[in-house]
Amino acid sequence: MKRIAVYPGSFDPVTYGHLDIVKRSLELFDQVIIAVLSNTMKKSLFTADERYDMLMKVTSVLPNVQVDIFSGLLVDYIKNKSAIAIIKGLRAISDFEHEFQMALMNKKLNPKIETLFMMTNEKYLYLSSSMVKEIVELKGNVLDFVPSYVSKKLKEKLNLN
Ligand code: PNS
Repeated sequence: MKRIAVYPGSFDPVTYGHLDIVKRSLELFDQVIIAVLSNTMKKSLFTADERYDMLMKVTSVLPNVQVDIFSGLLVDYIKNKSAIAIIKGLRAISDFEHEFQMALMNKKLNPKIETLFMMTNEKYLYLSSSMVKEIVELKGNVLDFVPSYVSKKLKEKLNLN
């Protein structure tokens, strides 16, 4: 049986930090589904379709990766996809409290699903989608942090072309 993991998130937008987690997850699982949260309650710069489009573009070279949009409970989505684990990236200790709470809640909702925390590559310890957005807004260069396609989409979105 295929061992499938789901890597959920907002990906607003996807960064090299996220891509590093995807690549490393592929060493552990037969298939990784990147699940983009479509949630009107959570404010995002890009629509779910735009975030999906960027992920499709930048993961097209990676084998065994699927990109999808999800809404509703993550545990329900995981069950529906016959996945066995949730992948989450951890940067600093500041990420931990919220991530730990979500992992425990998901475990309570469905004890069969494991959450796997992967430490970020030290190169990306300080990297976040929100900082990338701020840098682009202030006309800085983000090519060290996101693929050129994403940088282009950020500039378009923020009317900086
Ligand atoms: O990139 P993010 O913002 O850290 O991603 C958060 C995400 C998508 C993993 C989280 O918001 C989520 O799982 N949402 C789905 C709703 C859900 O299942 N909530 C209850 C368990 S925490």
